[in-house]
Amino acid sequence: MMLIFGLMLLLQTTACLDQFCRFNQSDICYAALGHKLNLLMVQNTSVYDTTIQKNINYNTATDPICRVKNDTMRVCDLYRNRPVTVIKGTLIINRVIRADSGNYTVSFSHSDGSVTSTDLQVNVEAPIGSVEVSISCSSSGVMRASCSSEGDQLLYSWTLNGDPLMDGNSSFDLNEGTDGNITCSVKNHVSHGQKTVRLKPCPGELSVNVHIFIKNTATPMMQNSHF
Ligand SMILES: *[C@@H]1O[C@H](CO)[C@@H](O)[C@H](O)[C@H]1NC(C)=O
Ligand SMILES: *[C@@H]1O[C@H](CO)[C@@H](O)[C@H](O)[C@H]1NC(C)=O
Ligand SMILES: *[C@@H]1O[C@H](CO)[C@@H](O)[C@H](O)[C@H]1NC(C)=O
Ligand SMILES: *[C@@H]1O[C@H](CO)[C@@H](O)[C@H](O)[C@H]1NC(C)=O
Ligand SMILES: *[C@@H]1O[C@H](CO)[C@@H](O)[C@H](O)[C@H]1NC(C)=O
Ligand SMILES: *[C@@H]1O[C@H](CO)[C@@H](O)[C@H](O)[C@H]1NC(C)=O
Repeated sequence: MMLIFGLMLLLQTTACLDQFCRFNQSDICYAALGHKLNLLMVQNTSVYDTTIQKNINYNTATDPICRVKNDTMRVCDLYRNRPVTVIKGTLIINRVIRADSGNYTVSFSHSDGSVTSTDLQVNVEAPIGSVEVSISCSSSGVMRASCSSEGDQLLYSWTLNGDPLMDGNSSFDLNEGTDGNITCSVKNHVSHGQKTVRLKPCPGELSVNVHIFIKNTATPMMQNSHF
């Protein structure tokens, strides 16, 4: 038997998940699927002719390439049919799709004929959707907390009345008589969200599913916000 009683008090903030990366950063650039990615090209694109290459076969003749001259995009087959702009040395991809993941090389042509280049790895992650917590009671009265959400590379952590409980698992068994508010936090590289539910004692032989939504927030995690 299953009882579901919902008390919805959703406080959802629509977050800005735009990401900022630099082409010369040594760590991976994480972009939020469906959102804006700002790629700072590091060198002055008004001065240097710039090419951005998506490394598929590491072959300049066949790999997709984008040419920027005088801070203006010229030939560009990297981001087919999508609005991509170059503004003051920043390449802006809006909106990011999964196929934007990959390794890129940006090259600058200097007036003496030399070329310098720098690489960047881009990983696209779907941001976290709404976080759901359910508490179920087994017939023997064991309470089990389970958390779920949408998104890529989810990391779970739990707190009970604000104190850390455990990290890493989306569900676990609670000690008998556990009381208070339990919070599941979910994060990935581009966003995080959480939900708190109030625990109710297990009724014993009855199987109950509690969905008490107290709070649900989704806020962006800024990475490399040098601007
Ligand atoms: C990237 O380039 C900028 C400007 O040249 C420099 O300040 C920064 O230290 C560079 N970052 C890395 C990781 O090389
Ligand atoms: C880039 O170079 C142009 C032309 O020399 C100059 O006007 C502009 O201020 C430079 N921009 C930056 C960010 O250095
Ligand atoms: C570069 O673009 C600016 C404005 O976008 C323009 O005034 C300038 O003449 C251009 N320079 C060259 C060399 O094309
Ligand atoms: C990008 O480069 C990294 C490090 O060199 C490599 O591990 C990864 O597999 C590459 N990704 C793609 C999509 O080629
Ligand atoms: C997750 O739960 C499983 C089984 O309950 C357990 O073996 C594992 O150690 C837990 N992982 C973490 C990170 O706590
Ligand atoms: C759980 O949350 C409710 C509502 O926010 C609050 O009234 C209550 O005191 C909390 N309980 C504990 C044990 O913190």
